[in-house]
Amino acid sequence: MLVIRCKNYDECSKAASDIFKNALKENPNMILGLATGSSPIGIYQNLIKDYENGEISFKNVRTYNLDEYVGITREHPQSYYYFMNDNLFNHVDINKENVHVPFAYEGKYEESCKAYTEELKKVSVDIQLLGIGANGHIGFNEPKTSFDQETFIVTLTEKTREDNKRFFNSIDEVPTHAITMGIADIMRAKKIVLIACGENKAEAVKRLLSGEITTDFPASALHNHNDVVVVIDDAACKLLD
Ligand code: F6R
Repeated sequence: MLVIRCKNYDECSKAASDIFKNALKENPNMILGLATGSSPIGIYQNLIKDYENGEISFKNVRTYNLDEYVGITREHPQSYYYFMNDNLFNHVDINKENVHVPFAYEGKYEESCKAYTEELKKVSVDIQLLGIGANGHIGFNEPKTSFDQETFIVTLTEKTREDNKRFFNSIDEVPTHAITMGIADIMRAKKIVLIACGENKAEAVKRLLSGEITTDFPASALHNHNDVVVVIDDAACKLLD
């Protein structure tokens, strides 16, 4: 696990986006695993600038997102599909047919999950971007999720719904379930970049960097991967040593 420590969110975003930019320059046909939430927004903004400067193109890039709420449409402004269009895809030259955000079709949850995992196995993600929850979740893999878990429908914890309510009018509007890549799907990516910024990530960063591997803390599975870069800022390092 390589740790890159930066002063603040902007520097973290630059360090992380440069990893993607350099990889895209080398291989414009890359398969990217992408995340939503507040952590990756700066990275996406930088990648949009890199695209506008003519440094990179997304024309031949394929993307697979980590997760999506269950029970809201793709057109819903809080859907992760909408988020990705708004924050990245609508601003670059990606072919929308190459964009994949999991979706749990009503009455076909099991099939939807199986199909997503099968496709991920087929394509093999080159770089997977991750944020981390205060409780160590990656994607929506909450504590106690098996490291062997593949794409599944998860019941969101109250803590996660509480953390995400800032994006909705009230806690009641936050969906109770999500479809998410499982830890096993995430671990199949060739490279993983995790970004964690701000004081509210300090506890999670401390636990991640302790090296302990336990299903109580899902992100600790990353210690079993041989190419993980963790990008953290000073605030997130507050509880270290
Ligand atoms: C998002 C995702 C989540 C977030 C995590 C951190 O696709 O899978 O695991 O990465 O909840 O969220 P932020 O970045 O908003 O702190």
